[in-house]
Amino acid sequence: MLTKELEQKINEQINMEFVSAYLYLGLAAACEGMNYRGAAQWMRAQAEEEKGHAMRLFEYLIERNAKVELLDIQAPKVSPKSLLDVFQLSLKHEQAVTASIDKLYGLAFEQRSFSTAHELSWFLKEQIEEEKQVRDIVRTIEMLGDDAAALLDLDRELGSRSNGTEQAASE
Ligand SMILES: [Fe+2]
Ligand SMILES: [Fe+2]
Repeated sequence: MLTKELEQKINEQINMEFVSAYLYLGLAAACEGMNYRGAAQWMRAQAEEEKGHAMRLFEYLIERNAKVELLDIQAPKVSPKSLLDVFQLSLKHEQAVTASIDKLYGLAFEQRSFSTAHELSWFLKEQIEEEKQVRDIVRTIEMLGDDAAALLDLDRELGSRSNGTEQAASE
């Protein structure tokens, strides 16, 4: 049985994952606006992954006979001006998500809810991967600078990312 506090915090994390999906969708639209079609595709795939994260916790609450409470999904307030902006915003967001998961893990541990801690350990690992992935892209964009041709090559490469459901299914 989960405590009310833990249940509430997991519901808040579900919300944060949906907020993440919405943010990435907003960034996809921004990329389309800047004509980075590949990066837009990458962002769409990321939005799908975030929905998958939310659903993972949603199902966990149901499995534990806890109450799912869906909260308002905040609109993304971002207006990136460049591809670098887009990925820097993503990195900042992922760092905030990591901090949130860390806190939630700490609470689960404190409450000796080991099954929750076990469930969250998947997220701890996922956050390491997501931060690294985005940080690598930020560094690449920084290296390319204003080289438009090179940025378009990178954009094409980003567009080759699959839609994320495949990856989620194989985990
Ligand atoms: Fe996530
Ligand atoms: Fe994420």
